[in-house]
Amino acid sequence: MRGTVVRSPRDLTPDFSSKNTMTPMTAESAAPPPVSDPTGYELGILERRLLPSDDFLALWDAILIDPVIKDRLLAQALLNFTIRPTVDRSRLPLHGLILLVGPPGTGKTSLARGLAAMTAARMPHLGPFQYLEVDPHDVANAGLGQRQKAVTQLLGATIARYARQRPTIVLLDEVETLAVARSGLSLDVNPIDIHRATDALLAQLDVLAAHTPQLLFVATSNFPEAIDEAFLSRSDLLVTIERPSAEACRTIFFDTLQALADHYPAIRGLLNSPEIESAAAICRDLDGRQIRKLVLAACTLRHETALDPNTVQAADFLEALQRGKEEHRNLKERR
Ligand SMILES: Nc1ncnc2c1ncn2[C@@H]1O[C@H](COP(=O)(O)OP(=O)(O)OP(=O)(O)O)[C@@H](O)[C@H]1O
Ligand SMILES: [Mg+2]
Repeated sequence: MRGTVVRSPRDLTPDFSSKNTMTPMTAESAAPPPVSDPTGYELGILERRLLPSDDFLALWDAILIDPVIKDRLLAQALLNFTIRPTVDRSRLPLHGLILLVGPPGTGKTSLARGLAAMTAARMPHLGPFQYLEVDPHDVANAGLGQRQKAVTQLLGATIARYARQRPTIVLLDEVETLAVARSGLSLDVNPIDIHRATDALLAQLDVLAAHTPQLLFVATSNFPEAIDEAFLSRSDLLVTIERPSAEACRTIFFDTLQALADHYPAIRGLLNSPEIESAAAICRDLDGRQIRKLVLAACTLRHETALDPNTVQAADFLEALQRGKEEHRNLKERR
């Protein structure tokens, strides 16, 4: 199944996914640990599922970056689950934290999800992995004076409980919201609560590092300068994901077209046209997200095409790319 872009993962795999619900994830021992809220809501948990799952594996393949970086990321994640349960932490200190930083739309979140699935797929002897996605805003919005408590509950209780059950990978997206740089804060405008929440996060990471070896955090951020220094220093691997190279932009463009063509076969006939070549050239300095969205935008130029993408023309892709790029340029100039 690997390498295939899965359109409907539920066709292919048991539905392990759960958007913060308590629906049992498999018939066997994969039932989640009990939570007190009967609706299944758990503070700070946006999503949980068991891995590997085909849609997350497909994300790993869909993100086109330097393969050396991908290899390094996967090796670090594998080492985490190989070494941490067995070695002496005082001499080989791993925190179980990988940090991905870089500009928006460069594939960090997708890569983190793909990494989680790949790690689980490479370590079948450990059984299914638990994947948890943290909603940092849930914690940040916990209310004045409640933030520190929310962080402690999320890491010290919820995540620790899952990680005692089975190998667990936690995505901390937009981690600068949780690990707020204390040095950059003014106590006049930011309540002491935010400082204490960062303190609590660091303290909990240390406790989890010491007592919960079957756990890996993958954190992402667009604002590394806003992340607390002590959090950065706890990362076992820090990787900067750059904007895609010109060649990668072209590949992302054609990959997106191909994904459309897989569903709407008339598009296959357009792939070699000169307008498509010109559109590909326009993608050169866009990020991966913009490229994929602008390819799709070609299907929104007319209602007819939105209703039947088989009617899209090669010139529509060129027009969508030109318009989109122009809008991005104008926005940049206005800022
Ligand atoms: N290098 C890339 N190769 C292929 N697709 C990419 C690449 N970078 C981004 N994309 C596509 O862009 C979309 C957004 O990616 P994603 O959300 O993972 O980016 P991100 O770096 O987490 O962005 P943000 O920092 O705004 O959260 C996805 O559909 C992804 O497939
Ligand atoms: Mg992201």
